[in-house]
Amino acid sequence: MTDIHLQLEQKRTAARLGGGQRRIDAQHAKGKLTARERIEVLLDPDTFEEWDMFVEHRCTDFGMEAQKIPGDGVVTGYGMINGRLVFVFSQDFTVFGGALSESHAEKICKIMDQAMKVGAPVIGLNDSGGARIQEGVASLGGYAEVFQRNVMASGVIPQISLIMGPCAGGAVYSPAMTDFIFMVKDSSYMFVTGPEVVKTVTHEEVSAEGLGGALTHTTKSGVADRAFENDVEALLMMRRMYNYLPLNNKEKAPVRESLDPRDRLEPSLDTLVPSNPNQPYDMHELILKIVDDGDFFELQPEYAKNILIGFARMDGQSVGLVANQPMVLAGCLDIKSSIKAARFVRFCDAFSIPVITLVDVPGFMPGTSQEFGGIIKHGAKLLYAYAECTSPKVTLITRKAYGGAYDVMSSKHLRGDVNFAWPNAEIAVMGAKGAVEIIFREDKNDPEKLASKEQEYRARFANPFVAGARGFIDDVIQPQETRKRICRSLVMLKDKKIENPWRKHGNIPL
Ligand code: HXC
Repeated sequence: MTDIHLQLEQKRTAARLGGGQRRIDAQHAKGKLTARERIEVLLDPDTFEEWDMFVEHRCTDFGMEAQKIPGDGVVTGYGMINGRLVFVFSQDFTVFGGALSESHAEKICKIMDQAMKVGAPVIGLNDSGGARIQEGVASLGGYAEVFQRNVMASGVIPQISLIMGPCAGGAVYSPAMTDFIFMVKDSSYMFVTGPEVVKTVTHEEVSAEGLGGALTHTTKSGVADRAFENDVEALLMMRRMYNYLPLNNKEKAPVRESLDPRDRLEPSLDTLVPSNPNQPYDMHELILKIVDDGDFFELQPEYAKNILIGFARMDGQSVGLVANQPMVLAGCLDIKSSIKAARFVRFCDAFSIPVITLVDVPGFMPGTSQEFGGIIKHGAKLLYAYAECTSPKVTLITRKAYGGAYDVMSSKHLRGDVNFAWPNAEIAVMGAKGAVEIIFREDKNDPEKLASKEQEYRARFANPFVAGARGFIDDVIQPQETRKRICRSLVMLKDKKIENPWRKHGNIPL
């Protein structure tokens, strides 16, 4: 081997060793993989093309000129997930705690720029102590360069973040602007200010895990979409989710042929909805019975559980599912569920993924906490998202579709393409009991009369045919044929094209 070849190999070996064996061992001792090991699990074998392995920082303060590690704390490049292109950066905690220097940021920006040029997603594996303290404002500038690219890429290519270690201060805002955030339980956390600052300012005592761990963000704040047990599980689940996504906003999501017949009937659905309108049932059951192979990739499963969102396939095609969950708060729409579903509908719309909406909603959640919290504005987010959405939209009302919530949940009036109802659906301004109590207020002491009026109201309005008579429902279908009818609708909608009027951008109620 000539000198220069030897030098190359030595440089590569040095880069691969990151911050050295001691720090690699420390990383493993915390149950974490190294930056490179993570890339190996994430990508198809032998597909990773690394860039900028020899980049070094340019800092000369605090003795940094003597501490240069090739790669400068982040491994970047591209590779394949199930044969489809993806760009990736993976922060190396063994090098200055994965802290972001100007050069480190430039490496991330370089692959983001390239991903935009070729139209492929970016996955970021975050494990970093934040701004490289020795670099000061140069590092802050580096973050802002990344933020700007996050925003320009939003809605053009999917961007996904995996938080696999610390992510604090302003550093949280890059993941926050990506489409999905996955976290690893017990080893990752995200917060704007850490426990020490919190203690000083608000006198609250809280651990890093309690303040911004995976459970906090998947149950309380809704910042993260999923939490996983360890690095390997998180990376493998990322590979799974990737299969549902298109590479960019001009391509369609990949179709995966399934052996599950598109016209499969599911007779058990005929008895899914209990005859008592106040009795709940699990909307998961409906989803699992209509999608290909019962395979549903749920997002935010532990947050705002009164609405379900996630990806699945129908007749091989990726779909986004949004469904009221009668098991939780009777499926009411409240602030959290509106925001949860609105952001998901907007993702599906940006990437032309059809949206299937399963409706069983008694209305918006009443109460001072909701009103004071701004349910008007937050509920409007979901309304806005559905109304703006030009992806194929198929809606099924399984039971209740009351009041404003009927309008919001991808109704015909919001350009729903195909709107179905099951025979026992109740599409009305409100439930029969509430309606009668208002209309016949003066008879409130006459329970017999009220009961008979309720019966009358139910017979007149609590069915899908009043809406059907106006064409607000395209068809009333037997529950057992739901999969078949939705699959057919999706075939019909394959080449749907509608455009919203030109504008700089709309003004969604934020
Ligand atoms: C430079 C850093 C660093 C940083 C960690 N290191 N954070 N070097 N800049 N921000 C180095 C440590 O010196 C140490 O080096 C190695 O990384 C591992 O750190 P440890 O402290 O030993 O690890 P651990 O105990 O696991 O603690 C991790 C940590 C802690 C919680 C992240 O290191 C920490 O609090 N770091 C400072 C975090 C911080 O204040 N960052 C700036 C936030 S402001 P050696 O050589 O010993 O291995 C910010 C603003 C962003 O980020 C703004 C964007 C707009």
